[in-house]
Amino acid sequence: MEVVILPGAKPIAALAADAIEALLRNKPDAVLGLATGSSPLPVYEELERRHRRGLDFSRVRAFALDEYVGLPPGHPGSYREVIRREFTGRVNIRPENVHGPDGEAADVPAACRAFEEAIRAAGGVDLQLLGLGTDGHIGFNEPGSSLASRTRIKTLVEQTRRDNARFFSNLAEVPHHVITQGLGTILEARHVILLATGAQKAQAVRDLVEGPVAAICPASVLQLHPHVTVLLDEAAASSLRLADYYRHSYDSKPRWQGL
Ligand code: F6R
Repeated sequence: MEVVILPGAKPIAALAADAIEALLRNKPDAVLGLATGSSPLPVYEELERRHRRGLDFSRVRAFALDEYVGLPPGHPGSYREVIRREFTGRVNIRPENVHGPDGEAADVPAACRAFEEAIRAAGGVDLQLLGLGTDGHIGFNEPGSSLASRTRIKTLVEQTRRDNARFFSNLAEVPHHVITQGLGTILEARHVILLATGAQKAQAVRDLVEGPVAAICPASVLQLHPHVTVLLDEAAASSLRLADYYRHSYDSKPRWQGL
């Protein structure tokens, strides 16, 4: 796991966008794993800027991490809508190449299996963007999630519903249930880039990077993945014991290595 501590959201977005751009130049039909929430927004803005300067997404396939269950079609808070509004609708990804779990499915287990199959049929995710919940969740794998889990329905913890209420008109409107890629699903992505900013993420970052691998911090399972990049601002990195070592390693890294 590589930890990179940067001065703020802009340089974090630039570095994540560099990795995505390098991937697309090398593999124009790459499969991107997309997160929603606030953390990836500066990355999406940066990618939109690069698209206007010629970065091509016409052959890219994309898979969202998660979706709320039971929101009416077209609800502005649904992740299908958020992904379209914030990213895929702003670059030239073809709408039919953007997939997400089906939060309106009558048969949820069958929809989860179909989603997993679609990822497999696309050849797997090349680069997965992740945010981090204040309780250590990735996707919507809340504490206690099986470290081997696959796409399935989960119940949100109340802290997550409160954290996400800002995207709805009030807390009561935030669904209790979601469909999320499992931790086992996320671990199959070939490169994972996790973004976290702000002091409210500091404890979860410490548990993820330096804690034991344990279901109480689902993100800690990323310690088992061979290629994870954790991009942090100073506030999110403020509880890390080995922060100076991470800075030193990144500063002295040969630039040809990339992320
Ligand atoms: C969103 C997702 C969540 C968020 C996490 C952090 O698709 O899977 O895990 O990444 O809740 O959200 P923000 O970035 O809003 O702090």
